[in-house]
This record gives sequence, C-alpha cells and structure tokens, in this order.
Amino acid sequence: MSDTSETISRYSTGDLRERLHAALWAAGKEPAVLKPTDLGEADHFHTGGRAATEYVARAVGIGLGTRVLDVGSGLGGPARYFASLGAVVTGVDVTAEFVELATELNNACGMGGSITMHRKPAQHTGLPAASFDAAVLMHVGMNLGDKAGVFAEIHRLLRRGGTLGIYDLLGTNELSYPMPWADRAETSHVETTADYERYLRAAGFLVTEDTDRSAEVLQVIREHGQFNPMNPDQLATPMILGAEVAARMDHVVAAIGAGHLAPRLIIAVKPV
Ligand SMILES: C[S@@+](CC[C@H](N)C(=O)[O-])C[C@H]1O[C@@H](n2cnc3c(N)ncnc32)[C@H](O)[C@@H]1O
Repeated sequence: MSDTSETISRYSTGDLRERLHAALWAAGKEPAVLKPTDLGEADHFHTGGRAATEYVARAVGIGLGTRVLDVGSGLGGPARYFASLGAVVTGVDVTAEFVELATELNNACGMGGSITMHRKPAQHTGLPAASFDAAVLMHVGMNLGDKAGVFAEIHRLLRRGGTLGIYDLLGTNELSYPMPWADRAETSHVETTADYERYLRAAGFLVTEDTDRSAEVLQVIREHGQFNPMNPDQLATPMILGAEVAARMDHVVAAIGAGHLAPRLIIAVKPV
C-alpha cells in the first residue's frame, strides 16, 4: 500500500458528514448556514486545536490578501480561520471524504469565494509555480514517507520570500499504536526535527525557527479536555478519529506527556 492509500483508508469513515450534522443539530446549529466558530474544535484536526491554528497563522504572517496553500487541509478549520483574516486559501488533501465535507462547510460559512479545496496529493499538486505567499502543513508529516518530495513541491509553489509553517508531531515511530494518524508503526512516518531541517534545506529553504509547543498543547489538553473521552462536547477533535477513538487519544496524550512526541512549529523561508 502506498502512503497515500494508507492515509485515505486511515481517515475515511464514510459517515463523518452524518455524525457532524447530527452534532451540529444537537448544538442548535443549522448545518447549511454556519459561522466558522459553530464547528467548535471539530474541524481543527491537530493537537492544540483552534489556539494552535491561531498561533501558526501569526507565526507565518497570514493576513489580508495573503495567498495561502494549506497542505493536507482536512475538514478545513485552519483554512476557514485564515480566510476569516482576509486570506485567499487553497487546500489540497488526498482524503475525498474530507475534501467534499470541507467544501460543503466552506460554502455553509459563506467562504466558498475565498477558499478552494482540491483532492490532490501533496507530492504532486498540479498547481502553478510561485503562486502562493505562504504555505502551512499542520499534522500531516506523520503520514508522509516522502517529506523531501513534499517540501520540494511546496518550494516550487511558493513565491520567492514566501514562508512555510510546519506544525507536526516530531520524534520517532517507537510509540504505542493505534495513533490518530496510523494504526501501526509500519504505516507511521514520524521523524525528528533534524530530519525535517535536512529535507527543508535540501529543498532550498532557510529554516528560521523551530519551536517545541508541548507545554502549550498539554495545557489545552488539561484545561480544555481536547482529547478527553469524557468531554461531553460532541463538536471536538475526537469526532474525526473514527474507530478506536479512546486508544488513539490516550496514546497521543501519553506520548506528548512523556516527551516521546513533540508538537513543533518549524518556520522555513524560500530565499528571495
Ligand atoms: C491530522 S489531519 C490534519 C488536517 C488539517 N491540517 C488540520 O490541522 O486540521 C491530516 C490530513 O493530511 C491529509 N494528508 C495526509 N497525507 C497527505 C498527502 N500525501 N497529500 C495530501 N493530504 C494528505 C489527510 O488526508 C488529513 O486530512
């Protein structure tokens, strides 16, 4: 199985739209007419949730008119947040269920004009060269066996002086499985910060920042119950995880707590 087909089979549940609609109705929201915040934390599919998305947007410098590429855009929570800042966003993702639901949610939020989602692999997007000011890759690298190829493609797509923000879980694959992104070590592609920096430099980037965000993520987990199975809020991250939710959540929280995995923000710039 290729990385891409492994990813699609891990993330596709077939009933996410139905479950999300049910949770929205239960929260008193009409799924066809939404504000981005009506989706709570359900569409920010990474450790640290919406607060982490806001942090990444600031670090990358996303604002009015920024042309943003969101690589592995998932359900589109980050893309809609960037659009709410005035950015024009293009998302690419291999999981059809996510691309279709994200597009529906963009339209429900009245953001269909400023966000476009494509079902494309990050390695070969088919998008025009030098057409973005900024790119983000949030909690996608753990599914990428060929990070060097993906970083080369992002480098091609950014204009000179453009910024890439990577917010991933870094470490090694010696972890307890299942994890949110993989059922077993053989289909997991967690790598170290030294690996990421090496691939980025080889692709032509300058690495300007590499920060450990474990403390902030553990605070969101403790104070907001992001991965707590007892959290009564249905519009939360676990909704997306599919089968074996509790084990996946327990494993990722324990690995971050023990320092085996670290959520890190890496900023890299394409030289002028
Ligand atoms: C954990 S989710 C993160 C989604 C989103 N970035 C967020 O933070 O809310 C990982 C996403 O990466 C996508 N993905 C994984 N490998 C990919 C690839 N090779 N090309 C495009 N998308 C990919 C998955 O389909 C999934 O939507």
